[in-house]
Amino acid sequence: MTVKEKIILALDVSDAGYALELVDRFSESIAIFKVGLELFTTAGPSIVTDIQDRGHKVFLDLKFHDIPNTVTRAALAATRLGVHMFNVHTSGGYEAMKRCHDQVMELCLKENLQRPRMLGVTVLTSLAPETLKKEFGIQHTLRTHVKRLSVMAQEAGLDGVIASGHEVSMIRNRCRAGFLIITPGIRPSWYPPDDQQRTMTPRQAVREGADYLVVGRSILDQPDPLKALDLITVEILTAK
Ligand code: C5P
Repeated sequence: MTVKEKIILALDVSDAGYALELVDRFSESIAIFKVGLELFTTAGPSIVTDIQDRGHKVFLDLKFHDIPNTVTRAALAATRLGVHMFNVHTSGGYEAMKRCHDQVMELCLKENLQRPRMLGVTVLTSLAPETLKKEFGIQHTLRTHVKRLSVMAQEAGLDGVIASGHEVSMIRNRCRAGFLIITPGIRPSWYPPDDQQRTMTPRQAVREGADYLVVGRSILDQPDPLKALDLITVEILTAK
């Protein structure tokens, strides 16, 4: 996989025009753009088709978390939009993931649609290990929790999970070959963590074996975002 395919740029902006300007600016160096809650809520589904019409892939990062029927219907809508990837929260449970997987497969066969990659969000990279215990009363470790959720996502038929770089090798050991691992919380040494807790540099994350790196602020908040991407690209290319 080339670096162009490996880095997913998070379009965490609220203006559709600016988002498309960014897509055009990065069109030579990024293949997958992430549309998340902020952009989708302000710009609506047309932002997805606008990006796709420019020849790029979209990761629709809306982290569906609801009862199985609602999650599945949202997943079918995402599939009809033609997104390359979308995600659901694994903590919504096995039934939501399984139904979502089965019905998306059925729809794609019936209507001859491109099958999106279905991913499960494990534990948000903004949560620290001690938070699980302190806030949610979960007694086992964060790593054990991510492992359980990843195995459950695999059993439900999902294509992969979203997890921090710190859990990548553990997931690799427990899940089938080809199970995708998408890693946010990416922080080059020159960018502060902000709200992210389980961070990793691009070089470390690639060494750990992440398939895709999701990068947002450390590129977009820079005075020269293309230069920031170049620096990250060099880190990745020299990671092995
Ligand atoms: O700006 P930063 O690089 O921290 O952005 C990370 C992106 O990845 C954000 O768009 C965030 O919503 C998303 N994300 C995350 N942690 C997850 C799943 C998605 O940070 N577990």
